[in-house]
Amino acid sequence: DWTPDSFVETTVAALREKLGDDKVVLGLSGGVDSSVAAVLLHQAIGKNLHCIFVDNGLLRKDEFESVLESYKHMGLNIKGVDAKQRFYDALSGLSDPEKKRKAIGRVFIEVFDDEAHQVQDVKWLGQGTIYPDVIESVSVKGPSATIKSHHNVGGLPDFMKLKVVEPLNTLFKDEVRRVGKTLKIDDNILGRHPFPGPGLAIRILGEITPEKVAILQEADAIYINNLRSAGVYDKVWQAGAIYLPVQSVGVMGDERTYENVVCLRAVESLDGMTADWCHLPYDLLAKISNEIINNVKGINRVVYDISSKPPATIEWE
Ligand code: XMP
Repeated sequence: DWTPDSFVETTVAALREKLGDDKVVLGLSGGVDSSVAAVLLHQAIGKNLHCIFVDNGLLRKDEFESVLESYKHMGLNIKGVDAKQRFYDALSGLSDPEKKRKAIGRVFIEVFDDEAHQVQDVKWLGQGTIYPDVIESVSVKGPSATIKSHHNVGGLPDFMKLKVVEPLNTLFKDEVRRVGKTLKIDDNILGRHPFPGPGLAIRILGEITPEKVAILQEADAIYINNLRSAGVYDKVWQAGAIYLPVQSVGVMGDERTYENVVCLRAVESLDGMTADWCHLPYDLLAKISNEIINNVKGINRVVYDISSKPPATIEWE
């Protein structure tokens, strides 16, 4: 019978056998899969696992620092890389969603390749691929999909020539979470909502600027903190704020304002393939709206998305 404990035991032993004294490089995202893969590999080969966590400047407020801290706390050998400016430069002038995704994927590969080169004699690339990613080759839109499509371009980055080790490629998401619990990974990581690889870049409609990122981070943090303190966060499958490229008129004291709109999105789902909008309590929505408008400069209107998937998607881009 499959249990998380027996999975950990046999997987760690098999990884030890397979990897010996070899070095492995792995990109951490802050998400559940890459974190569980990293902790398994760490149990098997310790300091020979070199983790890389890239700050693409598109993460949630304070996310990079707090997640990096959690990883260090877990004993992982991890390097945090500040690549914000490289991503902003690549995104400058782009407003088409697919062009933004491609630019982010390309820069991620460049940054990761630079970092992987700094690990002497590395032989393996670790990945948090899970079973659904393996079987569903078309609809995966994560960084791994970007890496795969790169195969066709020719001139592979060097880290792509590494042998691949994927300790979770037989597991479903709920099994990965159970393994993560057995491994005592922080709830703050295991319980997180899914977050897209391109991050806030696809939640800022149109062109990305560091200023818009900062505004959205503030609004999103107010939203998420309120979901947490109301005890709603764990009941929602995914939530986030979207920055709309629309200005509307408002009043603040005696002043007329003409500022942007933030949309709040929260959905219930099992796998992200279909989703229903969450019926959040009106008084919670009212509190969040007031807090955002009173505290986030540049936002004077908040709306709530009441569209389900299909025909809408979870993200707006
Ligand atoms: P949609 O918007 O297609 O989203 O309904 C379904 C799920 O996929 C996530 N998503 C992405 N994840 N890279 C990712 O790693 C992407 O480009 C991407 N686009 C959407 C989305 O957050 C939701 O969980």
